[in-house]
Amino acid sequence: RKVRHYQWEVGYVFWKPDCQEKVMIGINGQFPGPTIRAKAGDTIVVELKNALHTEGVVIHWHGIRQLGTPWADGTASISQCPISPEETFVYRFKVDKPGTYFYHGHYGMQRAAGLYGSLIVDVADGEREPFHYDGELNVLLSDWYHQDINTQAVGLSSNPFRWIGEPQTLLINGRGQHGCSLASHVLEGLSACEINSSQCAPVTLPVLPNRTYRLRIASTTSLASLNLAVGSHKMVVVEADGNYVQPFEVKDMDIYSGDSYSVLLTTDQDPSSNYWLSLSVRGREPKTQPALAILNYHPNSATKLPTAKPPVSPLWNDYAHSKAFTYRILALKGTERPPASATRRIALLNTQNKLNGYTKWSINNVSLALPSTPYLGSMKHRLAGAFDAERPPESFPGDYDVMRPATNPNTTQSSGVYVLDFNTTVDVILQNANALSANVSEIHPWHLHGHDFWVLGYGEGRFTEKDAKGFNLKNPPLRNTAVIFPYGWTALRFVTDNPGVWAFHCHIEPHLHMGMGVIFAEGVHLVSRIPKEAIACGMMGKKFMNLP
Ligand code: C2O
Ligand code: CU
Repeated sequence: RKVRHYQWEVGYVFWKPDCQEKVMIGINGQFPGPTIRAKAGDTIVVELKNALHTEGVVIHWHGIRQLGTPWADGTASISQCPISPEETFVYRFKVDKPGTYFYHGHYGMQRAAGLYGSLIVDVADGEREPFHYDGELNVLLSDWYHQDINTQAVGLSSNPFRWIGEPQTLLINGRGQHGCSLASHVLEGLSACEINSSQCAPVTLPVLPNRTYRLRIASTTSLASLNLAVGSHKMVVVEADGNYVQPFEVKDMDIYSGDSYSVLLTTDQDPSSNYWLSLSVRGREPKTQPALAILNYHPNSATKLPTAKPPVSPLWNDYAHSKAFTYRILALKGTERPPASATRRIALLNTQNKLNGYTKWSINNVSLALPSTPYLGSMKHRLAGAFDAERPPESFPGDYDVMRPATNPNTTQSSGVYVLDFNTTVDVILQNANALSANVSEIHPWHLHGHDFWVLGYGEGRFTEKDAKGFNLKNPPLRNTAVIFPYGWTALRFVTDNPGVWAFHCHIEPHLHMGMGVIFAEGVHLVSRIPKEAIACGMMGKKFMNLP
């Protein structure tokens, strides 16, 4: 059990993630941020200095439950105050569970500016993974906009609404190529890339023939849902969001923002060639070119372009294909099972709405507006007036037609909190619906902080009581992110055993910015020793000033 120390400085850097120079947020002058690698049971200490000079910053450790350290969750307005320019905040937390994770900015839209990196937790010494592999390859996926995040955020918050559109480039380990293709010799109509910078050079993944590799895949995209394939290699999925799954074989897989996976890939193809790893957009009409990386079989040169074409990805709107993949994800035997029943059920209707002419996303007709005083401090110290006292609704009208645009699209805004009794079992039914325009319903990957949840089931149309009878209580997968498909529902169960205040939100950055999230609080009275610097701002700052 080690303590692993990191000293990071977050600052703007000139960078060329797709060969075009822009300003991005980097850590210690690099993008993506450094990879954290630890063993289960270790303590991570990150001394984070904000060198952005004109704005605050926080970092969230996505998938780490922060058992007993809710103030280290890194969510602005929720678990802590943004770290002021030139100041240093110390994140100190335990990584209790092996798995593939990542970290990212969680203030405004800073994730989309490039503030992210990998966090990988190996099994503790003396423990073994329930599968074998010879080597490991890390693949951190993201998307990239040429427009800076301030312009994006102002557009999303304007009337008339200005949508950010599709990302310019998909990035693999922070690298992509805009407006050209490495595979121009096999793809028609695209010019070859003149890679003039190592910052956008294609990623090469070196392998030996006839070995098994563990690909660690995570997606921190701002918008894009992804599909990944590696030539015609088969992949066996073994881990999802830091939990083992019943192994199953695929030719390609979907990855939504907030997801992470491990897959085993055997290098059993003709070793005289290299192969394309290809990444393409799902669920939205693809206006972004696929990203490519080279699986480099030893002893071929890393720059030898594959002879076979990049794998053909499924059609962007082939939802049957996406669902088939998602439904196959089940818990490995021996995984903890969910309690047989829940004490409370919360139904969350996802809709796109209007608020005084501004476009928003709402949950049960409430669009999330974060308060200036972080909930963790104001709830722990019972400060009145720091956020809206009214409890948000746990259900939506029984006659709401999820298949059509709302008859009244107007919504409300609130910072209200779902207060959950400590150590109880909560079911959440995420209900998708039609967006503002007719015949539009989008994919939303929902991510829960502070917990893993069991995914009890998925279904089409409106959830009914009958659907609850079909819940999978036998081998539901444990995850921290779950998708709702267009016009569908997804049912989750979790136990409120981690005192703190936790965000639960759509992981699509512009959607969260537009209010697509809720706040859960549980056992906050049991939280102790909150570092003062985490919560001394807003009304809590004033309170601390008045203390002796
Ligand atoms: Cu990775 Cu609240 O998010
Ligand atoms: Cu969304």
